[in-house]
Amino acid sequence: MTRHAEVALAAAAAMEPGGARAVARCDLLSRWPFSDTRDHLFRPFLGPGHEATCEITTSWMQEAGMTVSLDPAGNILGRYEGLTPGAPALLVGSHVDSVKDAGSYDGMLGVMLGVELVDAFHRAGRRLPFALEVIGFGDEEGSRFPSYMLGSRSVAGVLPPDALAVSDRGGVSLVNALSGWGVDPDRFADAYRAPGEVAAYLEAHIEQAPSLEEAGLPLGVVSSIAAQARYYFTVEGMAAHAGTAMHKRRDALTASAAIVLAIEEIAARGPVDLVATVGWLSTGENSATNIVSGAVTFSLDLRAALRETRDRAASEIFAAAAAICAERRVGHAVEERHQLAGAVCDQMLNEALSGAVRDVAGYEPPLIVSQAGHDAMNIAAIAPVSMLFIRCAGGISHNPAESVLDDDVELALAAMIRFADELAQNPRFRSP
Ligand code: GLV
Ligand code: MN
Ligand code: MN
Repeated sequence: MTRHAEVALAAAAAMEPGGARAVARCDLLSRWPFSDTRDHLFRPFLGPGHEATCEITTSWMQEAGMTVSLDPAGNILGRYEGLTPGAPALLVGSHVDSVKDAGSYDGMLGVMLGVELVDAFHRAGRRLPFALEVIGFGDEEGSRFPSYMLGSRSVAGVLPPDALAVSDRGGVSLVNALSGWGVDPDRFADAYRAPGEVAAYLEAHIEQAPSLEEAGLPLGVVSSIAAQARYYFTVEGMAAHAGTAMHKRRDALTASAAIVLAIEEIAARGPVDLVATVGWLSTGENSATNIVSGAVTFSLDLRAALRETRDRAASEIFAAAAAICAERRVGHAVEERHQLAGAVCDQMLNEALSGAVRDVAGYEPPLIVSQAGHDAMNIAAIAPVSMLFIRCAGGISHNPAESVLDDDVELALAAMIRFADELAQNPRFRSP
């Protein structure tokens, strides 16, 4: 560990429990050795930074009274028993992996707030009619393997059959990476939790959009999480000399550029909740300054509050791409990589969470549709889910400029404690 990380670790160890400590822990975890890279945060699934993060999180969970394990999908899981051992759990958490050049709070803040929530009950010597579990999902971002949300999809039992048949860009297969981490790939799906084991799921997360900031409010409650789909387009033209006359070319890159602009135009004239992103494009290894582009591959991430809106936009985009490619005499293919149906948060849990925010912050929290994907959208297959959004500066995320206020996070923790207390009073959450 660097001297800097050691000093930060000692400082975080000396901090009072609470929201500010959750923030300080996220800050600490955004540096080496909890990040694979030293100059910015990158914590990909199953990397050394992920391993170091699980180690230190284990000790923080244990200090908070939890028994800790790595589940069969490599998610870190801490459990604090309720009044009756073995009772169903209120599962609280988010993801511990990150994108490249990430901010400190996306995902991690929800895990650290889960630890603080349990710590608060543990210090008060209190047990609830349900267990409290804190989970740090391993692969939410899909930033290492061309996979996405494998950790929560395993817990929810919604893994596609070929989910593990992928390799990272360095050629390391997911199966080998799992084995190297001590996770048996054949047991990956055993992280599944049957409905009834999880009484409810709560995820606290930075908003990743500016609506709370614009409203001048620290907290909001998520009404639903947008449906998503990810596609890969391949455009096949013909590689040619840069001296080739313009009308003779079958340029894969200019055709791709026209498709990318058509995608932007289709999303921009759709409903405001429809968003389309081409975040990655490759001209391939053979591309060069003096070669007309022969082949291009690019991604498309498409999201909308309703699946129908997303699918209508996808059809429009595919038709536009086909017309552009025909006109430019290039071939193309579209491969669908992922589909996530979106999820509606549970009304009863949301009322309890809104009540908790009212109690601790003195206002009725806005209900927000999340355009960002979250593990909650998978866990909704096995349990009612609710999400608490925390204001983040400028709505900026997936960027090192990500920033939260300690006071907002203290309020979020207070609301989470109030929410757990509220559920403890509800006969639906009392174990027999
Ligand atoms: C995760 O950050 C996503 O919304 O893609
Ligand atoms: Mn993210
Ligand atoms: Mn996230």
